[in-house]
Amino acid sequence: MKRRNVLKIAAAASTSAGAGLLVVGKDSGASGASGAATGQVAPAAAGVGEGSGELMPGMKGMAGLPGLPAAGAVTPPPAVLTPFVDAMPRLVDAVPVSTTADTDHYATSIENSYVQLAPGKPTAVTSYGGGFIGPLIRAQRGRKVSVTYTNNLSASVVVHLHGGHVPSPSDGFPTDELAAGASRTYTYPNLQRGATLWYHDHLHMMEAVNVYNGLHGVYILHDPAEDVLDLPGGRYDVPIFLRDAYLDVDNTLYYDPTLTWTALLANGKARPYFPVGQRQYRFRLINGSNHRTLTLSLSDGTPLVQIAGDGGLLPAPSVAPQLALSSAERGEVLVDFSGYPMGTQLYLEDSVLGQILRFDVTETCPPEPRKAALPATLAALPALKHPTNTRDITLSLSADTNYFYINGKVFDPNVVMASIPVGTTEIWQVTDISGWEHNFHIHLVQFRVLDINGAPPGPSMQGLKDTVPIPANGTVRLQATFSDYPGKYVFHCHLLEHASFTGMMARMDITA
Ligand code: C2O
Ligand code: CU
Ligand code: CU
Repeated sequence: MKRRNVLKIAAAASTSAGAGLLVVGKDSGASGASGAATGQVAPAAAGVGEGSGELMPGMKGMAGLPGLPAAGAVTPPPAVLTPFVDAMPRLVDAVPVSTTADTDHYATSIENSYVQLAPGKPTAVTSYGGGFIGPLIRAQRGRKVSVTYTNNLSASVVVHLHGGHVPSPSDGFPTDELAAGASRTYTYPNLQRGATLWYHDHLHMMEAVNVYNGLHGVYILHDPAEDVLDLPGGRYDVPIFLRDAYLDVDNTLYYDPTLTWTALLANGKARPYFPVGQRQYRFRLINGSNHRTLTLSLSDGTPLVQIAGDGGLLPAPSVAPQLALSSAERGEVLVDFSGYPMGTQLYLEDSVLGQILRFDVTETCPPEPRKAALPATLAALPALKHPTNTRDITLSLSADTNYFYINGKVFDPNVVMASIPVGTTEIWQVTDISGWEHNFHIHLVQFRVLDINGAPPGPSMQGLKDTVPIPANGTVRLQATFSDYPGKYVFHCHLLEHASFTGMMARMDITA
C-alpha cells in the first residue's frame, strides 16, 4: 500500500510544479566563454561519478520525478576545475528601497540568470536578484525587515527565512506559494538574538531542486548586545556561504543526487582564494549544501574558535581542530592572521573535499587596536523553561518504499502532526530507527540540544539551534518554547532530498 505514496508524490508534483520546472536550459546567452584552461588539476576528492549511495536507498528508483534526470540519462562528465583561480567575492549587501521609523523594506526579483561559478562557461542558475547567492540582507535586532519578492519564473516558489522567528504567513509553508508572475511581501520582526540566518526556497517537493539551482541567500541579524565583545566588524566580518554541486564539463549545475558532488563553492566560486590582512576576522560559515556535511579545519592545524552557532552567540567559545556543519547549520569562527607572515597561504579544508578556500595573507590593514583576550564567556543563554510536554519523533525507513518517514508518515500539508498551544515548552525526543543519519530542523523556534544519545552536547552545540544532526540509530533530545505566532509551520529533515522526495517533513500548528 505504501507504494502508492510514491506514486502520489510523483503525480502531485507533476500537477503542482511539473510544468514549470526551474531547471533552466542553456541558450546562446551561455556562450562566449573560453574553453578549458590549461594546467587543470582534478578535484581534490576522488569518487566523482557514481554515487556511494550514502544519501538514501532507493534513490535510483526516483528517476523521472520533477527535477531529477530521466531513467537511463547519461551523466555528463564533471568539470575539471582549476583551484584558486578566482577570488572569493564578498556577498553584495541588499539596499533598502525604503525605510520607515521601524522597518527596512527591500525588493528582490526571483529570476533565471547566468553567473560565473568557475573559469570557462557561465552557469545557468535560478536566483534571488540575479546573482548566485541572493542579496545579503542586514537586519538590526528590533527593527523589522520586509522583502517584496517578485517571481519572474514560470513556476511557483516559496521563500523561507531559515532560523527566523517569523509569523506563519511570512514563514514560507511549502504550499503557501508565490505564483509565477506575482509579488508578495514577507515581513520579519527580528525579535530574536543576533544570528546568521539564511533564506531559501521551500516549494512543496521542489526545494531540493530549487535550492540546488541557486535559490539561496544570507540574512545577518545584527545585535547591539554583541557590541560589548568588540568582535571584528565591517570588512573583517565576512559571511561565507558554502555549498557543493555537480558542475559538468560545460559548468552546468547538473542535478543528480545519486552522484557525488565535488565542486565546493564558496560565495559562488569553485575553490577561490581570499586576501586577508594580519589581523583577526569573523567568518560566518553557512553550510548551504543540499545534504553534504562539511567538516572544516585550517590547514596548519590551528584550532577553529567558534563563537556562534545557528541561533547566535554560544555561551562560551568552542575551540576545536574541526567544525562540523550539517546541511543548513551555521558556525561563526574567529581566525587570527596576525601571527602569519605576509605571503602566507592558509587553507580552509573539508575532511572529504580537501582544500576549499585559500586565505592569502597579502592585504595591508590598519593596525588592530590591542584587544583583551577573547572572554571565556560570550552570551548567557535564556533560562530553560519548564517543559510541559514530551513529544516523540521517529525517523524511519519504509521497507516497502525505501523512503524515509517521520512518525511513519509521508508529508501531507493538510495533516497536522503536532498541534502546540502557544506559550508551551516541549521536549522533543527525536530518534532515528532507519540506520541512517538525518538532520532535524524545526521552523519558528531556536531550540536547545539537551543531549545526544544521552550525553550532553559538546561546546559547539551549546547555543541556540534550529538544525541538529541525528546520529544513525541515535536519539537527540531538544527543548523548545513556542512563545508566539499561531499558525502553520513545518519541521523536517534538512537533507533536502529526504524532505523533497521522500516527504520527510511534517506540519506543526501553533494554536492560539
Ligand atoms: Cu532551511 Cu524548512 O528549512
Ligand atoms: Cu527553516
Ligand atoms: Cu533525512
